[in-house]
Amino acid sequence: SKMKFAGLVGSLRKGAHSATVMRTLQELAPEGTEIEVLEIGHLPHYDEDLKADGSPQAVLDFAAGLRGADGVVIVTPEYNRSMPGVLKNALDWVSKEPEPPFADKPVAIISQSPGALGGILANYHLRQVLSVMRADFLTGGEVAINGVAGKMADGTITDEGTRKVLTRDLERLAQMVRVVELTRGA
Ligand code: FNR
Repeated sequence: SKMKFAGLVGSLRKGAHSATVMRTLQELAPEGTEIEVLEIGHLPHYDEDLKADGSPQAVLDFAAGLRGADGVVIVTPEYNRSMPGVLKNALDWVSKEPEPPFADKPVAIISQSPGALGGILANYHLRQVLSVMRADFLTGGEVAINGVAGKMADGTITDEGTRKVLTRDLERLAQMVRVVELTRGA
């Protein structure tokens, strides 16, 4: 069966560059892999009181979606040199769920920005946060797409160099999944 990656998009707006990058990743997914986007916009603001009778259904479903994935791909913009609150909110929710879904989970982190730095600081904040959750994220060769607006057309990334980098990142993620599964004896 196919290797399944869950895709998280750190922007909610319809025309998001992040969503364009995610669609491109779905298009470029290596043979035998697929990316299914898990929505995060409908999750409530984190409030421990909402957990009084168990976590909200939306959180349970989101956590289950992550657990069921072999790996996770995150595409995020940078807001004020960090990740958008909506993404942090989603991560905070699942970090407090039983069987934390990010523990030992291979994750590829991709940031994008119309600006010159490609959201690299959001990219690194995400690494910091995922470290606490014991994720196995890809290190080295950060994927921070700068000047993203000039690298896309008709809802997809057209810049050849960027497409190569994205393809390579997914191949590295698939490889990490295979290694993790071997270590687990799966
Ligand atoms: C931004 N933007 C931005 N860009 C950047 O490179 N570094 C930053 O710190 C910020 N900060 C920031 C804060 C807020 C509140 C907004 C709304 C925007 C610009 C941002 O990169 C741009 O709007 C992207 O297009 C957002 O990504 P999506 O929505 O297109 O995926």
